[in-house]
Amino acid sequence: MTLALVPGSFDPVTNGHLDIIQRAVELFDEVRVVVARNSSKTPLFTVEERLEMLREVCAPLPRVTVDSFEGLLVNYALKCGATVIVKGLRFVSDFEYELQMALMNRRLNNAIETVFLPTGAPYSDLSSSIVKEIARLGGSVEGLVPEIVQQRLREKYSIHST
Ligand code: PNS
Repeated sequence: MTLALVPGSFDPVTNGHLDIIQRAVELFDEVRVVVARNSSKTPLFTVEERLEMLREVCAPLPRVTVDSFEGLLVNYALKCGATVIVKGLRFVSDFEYELQMALMNRRLNNAIETVFLPTGAPYSDLSSSIVKEIARLGGSVEGLVPEIVQQRLREKYSIHST
């Protein structure tokens, strides 16, 4: 049984993340989406809000669970028996940072492999930061994030649909 982790900030989860999660389900026996609690980024949504949104959008997916972790990802993987880390890659610019992280994670625990999945073409220009920027400035994020995330973004930025 292979348990794969899909880690990230998920601030908030986008349709690009969902695409990666759905494809990871096809490849591994079990998938656990994990939110990092000690990210250096200043988030818009609390960890609990991000978990709630993830749980709702992942509910229809078989063999997918959602959790959060504190500290090193490889330590969390060791604790729960995960042997694979799945990351989505959009651009070459992602690759440099992601490769560095993958190599460091392997140095920390060489029993854990990182697998990169190329982001689905419709989502290659998508990131949580871009989504937040569009929503903050009153633009539509329809098609970029699940419905529940659209709603939460409207609440955060107090934009009321008519
Ligand atoms: O969505 P993000 O912000 O690109 O996700 C980055 C994340 C959370 C996957 C990464 O920062 C991480 O794994 N953080 C946990 C701490 C850790 O293990 N750091 C060492 C990585 S070399």
